[in-house]
Amino acid sequence: MAESMKGLKRSHRCTEVSKQQIGTDVTVMGWVAKSRNKGGIIFVDLRDRSGLLQIIFEEKDIGTDGFKKAETLKSEYVIAVVGRVEIRSGAVNEALATGEIEIRASELRILSEAETPLFPIEENSKTKEELRLKYRYLDLRRPDLQRNLMMRSRVTMLTRQFLDEEGFLEIETPMLTKSTPEGARDYLVPSRIHQGNFYALPQSPQLFKQLLMCSGYDRYFQIARCFRDEDLRADRQPEFTQIDMELSFVDVDDVIDVNERLLAKLFRELLGVDVLVPIPRMTWKEAMERFGSDKPDLRFGMELKDVSKVVENCEFSVFRSALETKGSVRGINVTGKAEMPRKKIDALIDYAKEFGAKGLAYLAVLTDGSYKSSFTKFMKEQELSALIETMEAKPGDLMFFAADRDKVVFDVLGNLRLKLAKEFELLDKKEYKFVWITEFPLLEYSEEEKRYVAMHHPFTMPMEEDLEFLETNPGKVRAKAYDIVLNGTEIGGGSVRIFQNQIQEKMFEALGFTKEAAYNQFGFLLNAFKYGVPPHAGLAYGLDRLVMLMAKEDSIRDVIAFPKVKDASCLMTQAPDKVDQKQLEELGIEVSKT
Ligand code: AMO
Ligand code: AMP
Repeated sequence: MAESMKGLKRSHRCTEVSKQQIGTDVTVMGWVAKSRNKGGIIFVDLRDRSGLLQIIFEEKDIGTDGFKKAETLKSEYVIAVVGRVEIRSGAVNEALATGEIEIRASELRILSEAETPLFPIEENSKTKEELRLKYRYLDLRRPDLQRNLMMRSRVTMLTRQFLDEEGFLEIETPMLTKSTPEGARDYLVPSRIHQGNFYALPQSPQLFKQLLMCSGYDRYFQIARCFRDEDLRADRQPEFTQIDMELSFVDVDDVIDVNERLLAKLFRELLGVDVLVPIPRMTWKEAMERFGSDKPDLRFGMELKDVSKVVENCEFSVFRSALETKGSVRGINVTGKAEMPRKKIDALIDYAKEFGAKGLAYLAVLTDGSYKSSFTKFMKEQELSALIETMEAKPGDLMFFAADRDKVVFDVLGNLRLKLAKEFELLDKKEYKFVWITEFPLLEYSEEEKRYVAMHHPFTMPMEEDLEFLETNPGKVRAKAYDIVLNGTEIGGGSVRIFQNQIQEKMFEALGFTKEAAYNQFGFLLNAFKYGVPPHAGLAYGLDRLVMLMAKEDSIRDVIAFPKVKDASCLMTQAPDKVDQKQLEELGIEVSKT
């Protein structure tokens, strides 16, 4: 039977009790993590969000009834204990913050009994994630998740404090907005009053924050929920949170400066890590050529090398034909792995194919100087030694080469590089390597849509020196856009915005929008610009990704209280779900497929 806590008041969280309170009485409340009855003496580990505290029950302190009650304690019972703080009678538990003390209970109340939990409430759970997500309220009791959510709370608190001190205003923007194309798929919300019309949930507050700049709120921020109907991955959820900001009368360097100081503060105060500022900057082109990725992980080398020149005259048709069709041949050197078994190499070739490779050529230089390779038979000795020299390979090294269009080559080798680094444990989660990626292409040709699409969004400013190509060679134009990348994850991105109508119109033209279509979609923004718009720029972090890396987790699900699974459903609430016919009728909606 549940008892009342009347007359009791919690005096400390579990780990707030320390040696300083020895000899005094405290009142603690929490969940029974473990209870051991040693006959005449019962040890209970009490758990709350701060950690564990050992309680001792003996009949001489708590009386016969109290001791009998203590004997009924089971895992996850919620209890209140009054007791005296003492030096631990047994061995000190170094692993616990409270390992030197224990509480000798003089009063026990069982506030709530509990059924046996469906899985152990423990760190580094081995329970399948599916089960844990179904019973997320139990999962969330686990110390690692509790620490992650506490870290997340600290990140947002410190961010608010920092941005407030820097003169930013926190302003909310609507959740029910207008659907605008360009970007991911929208989540739509049907309107009851305007039947047949739909709101869209915001993919980001982008347009609203630009309007706020037009309205003179020169520094805005928001911890904003965003919604994107995309395929999920470990670092992607359909709803996620941005730390979103926009600044007026600034250029790239101003945005970067304030954000470097924000990151330095977060990492210093929460992890004791000094972020070296200024954070290095790398152009998009350099990132692709050296790492095959616009979000390079700089914690290890294995950089890509362009060997096109070296192999341009060789007899290997795979290399030759890629070069003849304006592609390239590039390689990575996996040092010291020349002895990799054939089976493993074949598995890597299969992996490369997932990224569009037609194959993957390899060359191992064995320690006796001989080769193991799929293509040396087509190469002259001279060509081979030039290749090995360009790859900076030594005996004992293994090289992989991809020959294709640049885009495929980068994708294949960039991903292969990461896979190998994971396999060979080259990635240290305690190391934090930041880099700004700059000078992104403004536009990207979409084979699917047969037109250029904005790589960032249609309001991103082209680099001044490339403006002239916007009409003649749109693919060549670079953007005043920047991403902040940490350990191979894009944690944030932003840009300087177009604030001149004539450039914006050219941009829409390049995107294949007629003037009418542009006004239909974004008229409110374009009109706002007619009434006095300051130059402005901004950035948004993926809060979930930032906290994931700070908490050294592999998935953003581990830093979100109630995440969704791969098919965008919530295993706990069963959302999305069918609704009543009546609700549909009110909305004027008929479901054609179920
Ligand atoms: P962008 O689309 O790059 O920019 O988004 C900003 C950051 O949000 C994070 N992010 C996500 N996190 C989890 N799940 C997702 N599905 C997801 N999608 C994006 C990423 C990303 O870097 N309005 C612009 C910002 C600006 O220009 O100011 C924007 O939304 O970490
Ligand atoms: P094939 O000519 O298809 O028999 O391929 C000969 C070798 O070249 C095999 O080891 C393939 O894996 C490799 N290969 C095929 N296509 C490519 C490519 N586009 N880039 C690199 N290697 C390739």
